[in-house]
Amino acid sequence: MLFNACNCGALPSLAAHVGPLCAGGAGFVSAMVAALAANSRTAPAKTLRGNVPVVDKLSVRIVTDNIVMQFIANEKRDGLTIERKSGNTFPDKPPGRILNGEWGLAMHAQSFAGGVERNVMIDFGYTPEVLLNNIGILNVDPSTFDALVLSHGHYDHFGGMVGFLNATKGKLKARMPFYVGGEDCFCIRRNPGGQFGALDRKAILDADLTLMLASEPAIVADHAFTTGRIGQTSFETPLQPTTELIGVDANGFGCFADDMPPEKNTGNYIPDDFDHEIATTYMVKDHGLVVLTSCSHRGVINTVRQAMASSGIDKVHAVIGGFHVVPPLGDDYINKIIDEFRAIDPKYLIVGHCTGDRFYDLARAALGDKVIHSAVGTRLVFGA
Ligand SMILES: [Fe+2]
Repeated sequence: MLFNACNCGALPSLAAHVGPLCAGGAGFVSAMVAALAANSRTAPAKTLRGNVPVVDKLSVRIVTDNIVMQFIANEKRDGLTIERKSGNTFPDKPPGRILNGEWGLAMHAQSFAGGVERNVMIDFGYTPEVLLNNIGILNVDPSTFDALVLSHGHYDHFGGMVGFLNATKGKLKARMPFYVGGEDCFCIRRNPGGQFGALDRKAILDADLTLMLASEPAIVADHAFTTGRIGQTSFETPLQPTTELIGVDANGFGCFADDMPPEKNTGNYIPDDFDHEIATTYMVKDHGLVVLTSCSHRGVINTVRQAMASSGIDKVHAVIGGFHVVPPLGDDYINKIIDEFRAIDPKYLIVGHCTGDRFYDLARAALGDKVIHSAVGTRLVFGA
């Protein structure tokens, strides 16, 4: 069951952390949650069991990312074409606007299989202003989207979501699936500097989307699959940059205690285990897996190996996204990851967002130009 009444009694210190969680009493919150439930549309995700979808062609456009790069040539390589969007020109007027970078990530994946096209949006960046600006300049059409995926519950990935949903009201496909990796995605989070927000469940439901909790590998828009829960199978011991709190506040933000492991419901912020984090993956015909790892909090090697295990496919063509190999992780740790990538042997490592500059430098030195830096507007085309 997805929706459960907030159990304020189980959250003795919640109010002290996030404000008037039970303002108006438990009845108020319960009524609000019940209202959410009444409006809810949830559906079981179609679980990946054996038959991995195969696409003929995949195009991944980086819509929001940390950096904007100019003056880089387009490239055509074996099984990969890289297009770099530069400028925003018109024949009869000055450009006015330009692609913006910000701390955050959003990607648009367009795939083709047997002549059928599918479009998936993965994450929403930090702010709607940047997301919508870049969507406009890149000519991304939200009305074509077949599914939305949120990789994990961090603000730099969902911060632009509510503004995006408001701006596309009436334009998105009705009941379109919105995938998250589990209830944990909704928990209220803090980073060391303060509150880091929580995913707005009501905004998702009010937008006439169908919420899919996909803790197991799940098929997305017939063409892709999510990894499901990412196992800790490598040496990686992920950083825990945020803490999380179980419970729902007076405004309906948060995760339902009854749908969370009881041991996590301490009433206090606990280290974030990213139990809900997922990566979105495509199998590109004749090439292999293309893994879209948004932030790799569970470890980038763990993430890629989870995609391999979920699909039963060992051939990895490319890994795209934020690898999260950042300070205080040092060179020894980075070199271990590089060794693991040598063993997996992906053809391309396309890094951006939270990857970490030191990883890029060392990986580039060790693995050569298979390591590619993405940026806002970069379009990566795989396959036919
Ligand atoms: Fe991130």
